[in-house]
Amino acid sequence: MGESDDSLILGPPRGMRDFYPADMARRNAIFDAWTVASQAYGFDPYDACVVESLDLLKRKAGEEIVEQIYAFQDKSGRDLALRAEMTPTLARMIVARQGQLSFPLKWFTIAQCFRYERASKGRKREHYQWNLDIVGEGSVMAEAEVLGAAVHALSRLGLGRDDFRVHVSSRAVLADLLEKSGVSRPHHPATFVALDKRGKLDESEIVAQLTAAGLDGPSIDSVFGVLRIGTLEQAAAALGGATESCRRLRDLFEVAAGYGIADLLKFDISIIRGLGYYTGIVFEAFDVDRKLRAIFGGGRYDNLLSDLGGRAASAVGLGFGDVVIGELMAERGKEPSPSSGARIAIGYMEEGQRAVAVSLARALRAAGNNVDLGLHTEKAKGFFSRVGKPGFREAVYVGPDDVQRGTVRRKDLASRTESELPIVSITDESPGPGV
Ligand code: HAM
Repeated sequence: MGESDDSLILGPPRGMRDFYPADMARRNAIFDAWTVASQAYGFDPYDACVVESLDLLKRKAGEEIVEQIYAFQDKSGRDLALRAEMTPTLARMIVARQGQLSFPLKWFTIAQCFRYERASKGRKREHYQWNLDIVGEGSVMAEAEVLGAAVHALSRLGLGRDDFRVHVSSRAVLADLLEKSGVSRPHHPATFVALDKRGKLDESEIVAQLTAAGLDGPSIDSVFGVLRIGTLEQAAAALGGATESCRRLRDLFEVAAGYGIADLLKFDISIIRGLGYYTGIVFEAFDVDRKLRAIFGGGRYDNLLSDLGGRAASAVGLGFGDVVIGELMAERGKEPSPSSGARIAIGYMEEGQRAVAVSLARALRAAGNNVDLGLHTEKAKGFFSRVGKPGFREAVYVGPDDVQRGTVRRKDLASRTESELPIVSITDESPGPGV
């Protein structure tokens, strides 16, 4: 079916997703892992509207993301857009209050982002992205903290050393290496953009882009030579000794040992990142088999605040989407159990027991339980077959005899044990407000 087909379509627009209740268990488990990890590492939450001014999101030409923006005009002719990422919004919010905020600040958010991409495995036109950023800290402790938090979230989802690696490099090291091989700094931004497309485009197309960026044949050869460097020691040797940029990377690998994540990090010169604002260490996490797209990506960016008219501040952050991690969890059989938030089911046989069922539900809800109250009378058989599914932990079925006796049976659905309870003792447990 073509995209312009206007016959009745019950699915969402191409590249967008619906989340039926069955899909929400995984999404909630992912959001929960992100939130718990953010809190464990001391990040404060922030949020903003998904609609941004188009001006803020547009940057230097050549970045794929600029061409992928969903842009529109409001009824007053303002140029607006759905955010494609959170980082420009974060920078805008910080610059707007830079005088009042205390630094370094550590903020996190879970933001829905929109990119008009060719929808494929791991890529949608809409995704939720966990963002973690530390602004105003120059030391590699900032990189270590965001990476530690990301690994923490992954381990809460049951993923570890057998499942993923974080590939780490540095645009500063790459810039030093490029300069040493004769590619001057003004050519670096376009070179980074072209090199980031390796794997997505043929080598001949990359060469064409590098040529368009002003590199001659020998420079292009040396760029590809640089990308064959396999270790940080080789990079330092090619630079004639460890430069400041190499020392920072080494420092990160050292401090990562203390976080217990050093064995998950891997130096990889080919990590460049497609976004123009990164200036230092950059990283991307991949599944060990490299079958899927990046699980998360980020790095250090030094100029974004000053580009928006703020005071310069060094920052480190990452974006971690819900799509690839969902695919990895499915592949590794790490499906979340639907037991969290399990409910007590209450049913009743006849209209005559409705009032008792309602007051039982009210008392149990007021006492903090999750309760699913039957919406109409049900036969016992129908009720027990309806609630014998994951999601329910207990069942109380009220019949005329129970009301007469003044007791109900509370059935534990897992152990199949029953306890008899006086109706008044439950309703007296915590009468609570009329909620
Ligand atoms: P990014 O690499 O463009 O970085 O995106 C980060 C992550 O978001 C990706 O690794 C992937 O998990 C997910 N993602 C991106 N696009 C899509 C898509 N079309 N479909 C599904 N998932 C997607 C950034 O956005 C930076 N702003 C991250 C950052 C924050 N850097 C510093 N602070």
